[in-house]
Amino acid sequence: MKPKSLVDIGNYGRDDVLRILKSAAKFKANPNRDYLQGKICATLFFEPSTRTRLSFETAVNRLRGRIIGFSDAATSSSSKGESLKDTIMMVSNYTDLIIMRHHLEGSARYASEISPVPIINAGDGANQHPTQTLLDLFTIYETQGKLDNLTITIVGDLKYGRAVHSLIQGLSHFQPTFNFVAPEELKIPDKYKQFCDKCDIRYREFSDFSPEAINSADILYMTRVQRERFTDLMEYEKVKNVYILHNDMLAASKPNLKVLHPLPRVKEISQDVDDNPKAYYFQQAKNGMFTRQAVICDLLGIEVE
Ligand code: CP
Repeated sequence: MKPKSLVDIGNYGRDDVLRILKSAAKFKANPNRDYLQGKICATLFFEPSTRTRLSFETAVNRLRGRIIGFSDAATSSSSKGESLKDTIMMVSNYTDLIIMRHHLEGSARYASEISPVPIINAGDGANQHPTQTLLDLFTIYETQGKLDNLTITIVGDLKYGRAVHSLIQGLSHFQPTFNFVAPEELKIPDKYKQFCDKCDIRYREFSDFSPEAINSADILYMTRVQRERFTDLMEYEKVKNVYILHNDMLAASKPNLKVLHPLPRVKEISQDVDDNPKAYYFQQAKNGMFTRQAVICDLLGIEVE
């Protein structure tokens, strides 16, 4: 039988999301446990990362598991031409679970179809970043006390941002209203609008970073323009600093508003926002560790007490 993997947040229903969030809360209360004693996990990062890789590795370490892997594909035999299939088959010989980030959309699904151990998608191209979504949902619940019926304003690169694509799907179980703020070049792809239509999710599109988009929001989700996805760098130059959030722009925002960002940020959130109590992106990144502990245990069938 194929092991359970986390490839696509679209495969997680409302109950699955709530189960992970409940476990993540237990890990937040007590992150140091011995649930992974005797287990070895691999982190295969074919693309750069700070938060995702280090929070996964910290998650495993705090559960007393062991980690192997690479953070730079140039140091692996893929640089000699070894296929993804052979890499996965080799690493699954050595480990109980594989956490993989890869530039190709669909790579995590492919890996999950051939791997005898669970695969966690830590980002596949511009497609999906499901554990980012689970930590986002954990953070939204933590700050709003609920997930249902919230207005989420998502700003920036809605075309290439995989965290955005996963978040739309992850929130679809909770009757959100979306404000999509993007320049023409980085608009939300039609397939996500069709998905919203199919799920009866209300959304509006803005090309200006308008006060209405900020002041109607419970969550302001800022994103970076994904330079690495552009084939024409002149196009990137045109849009790279299109929206910048400054502290004074939050003056008339809702009292419960929280500003989130999957990070890394470049210039889209000015540093003067960092001291505003509505800024919550560093706490959000910390929640990644607890959420990833919950995901790992869920996939390995470990009950969290
Ligand atoms: N949010 C996120 O995926 O960050 P990293 O690219 O640093 O892992």
